[in-house]
Amino acid sequence: MADFKMLNRFNTSSAKWDGMANKIGKDTFLAFTVADSDYPTAKPITDALQKRLEHGALGYTMVDNEYFNIIKQWYKRRYDVTIKNHWIVPSSKVLSGLSFLIQVLTDENDPVMLQSPVYNVFEPLINLNNRPLVDNALVFNNNTYSIDFEMLEKQFKKGIKLLVFCNPHNPVGRVWSYEELSRLVTLAKAYDVYILSDEIHGDLIMENQTFVSLGKFFEDYEKIVVISAPSKTFNLAGLQGSNMIIPNKNIREKMKKKLSKNFLSSPNMMALTAIKTAYSVCDDWLEAQNDHIYNNYLKVKECLATYNISLAPLEGTYLLWIDFRPLKQTSDALFNHFLKYDIALAKGTAYSKAYDGFMRMNVAVSKEQLDEGLSRLKKALDAL
Ligand SMILES: Cc1ncc(COP(=O)(O)O)c(C=O)c1O
Repeated sequence: MADFKMLNRFNTSSAKWDGMANKIGKDTFLAFTVADSDYPTAKPITDALQKRLEHGALGYTMVDNEYFNIIKQWYKRRYDVTIKNHWIVPSSKVLSGLSFLIQVLTDENDPVMLQSPVYNVFEPLINLNNRPLVDNALVFNNNTYSIDFEMLEKQFKKGIKLLVFCNPHNPVGRVWSYEELSRLVTLAKAYDVYILSDEIHGDLIMENQTFVSLGKFFEDYEKIVVISAPSKTFNLAGLQGSNMIIPNKNIREKMKKKLSKNFLSSPNMMALTAIKTAYSVCDDWLEAQNDHIYNNYLKVKECLATYNISLAPLEGTYLLWIDFRPLKQTSDALFNHFLKYDIALAKGTAYSKAYDGFMRMNVAVSKEQLDEGLSRLKKALDAL
């Protein structure tokens, strides 16, 4: 039985809770910021980790065939994507995988594209690798976000080497449709652009939505790499385990060489155990979680509607993208004001400077935390 109960995460070395408490010098706030969940992961996962610990030997590990079969079956069962075991390259963090991929597939000075507003670490990911960053900003119209395909083609024509693609898209909550992905792949193929499809949020799919992995297009275009992880889905980010799916032999060999050169052989022992369990016996827990997140979204939407504040329709992820601009406040001012009422949301400007007045709210929280958070938010809004 899924139980999305509230956890007190202070004094657990939590980046979200302890990190902010250290920064602001108090621990009376409720955090809806960093993208991890504030309830326990699925019981079979904690049971498996416990059992593994009780065994006592915490020595070197290897990634066995069972692991590859489980990943392969997950993609087939949930997304109807057929992959081969040897295409799967396990790694630690998704960001490490993305960074190494950028290094092996592009040279310094090769332009790399992202589509803002987007996960705030994509920008340093490209900048720290000394690749010129090209932003193909999403189009925001009628409270929906879409890809600017005309601009994308113009930029591709000028010579983009690689696109870091977010699928589903953090923070705007879009689950890209088959048609959109198909158009993207056609253009990437026409202009010879690598696509790194970051699918870390791919399992968090809301009512009436279907997630299409870019893996559906592996046969059409060989310069696609899918990067996925159970870290958001099952609240395992602290274990640092992910997978790259690389059908193209040349790219795969380059990537494996890069990992060997850096002695990054596989996810750690606890990550391996958690990933195997998550992807084999936790489908029901995930369905229950997706319902829970969707209910949280509806609750926030209803609350904000009374203030004439809208949010992007949540198709996927657990991240709400809220347009507070009717309040005529900057994201900085909103952040500080909300903190006075002991509620922390993330600033929209972290995801794009153009979205001042927006905030991101993570609703992977218990009912109890959400209710208390909304009551504080209402007080903060009433005071403006
Ligand atoms: C789209 C996206 N990619 C990657 C990450 C980070 O993943 P990891 O911690 O495995 O590097 C996040 C975390 O929020 C994310 O939203």
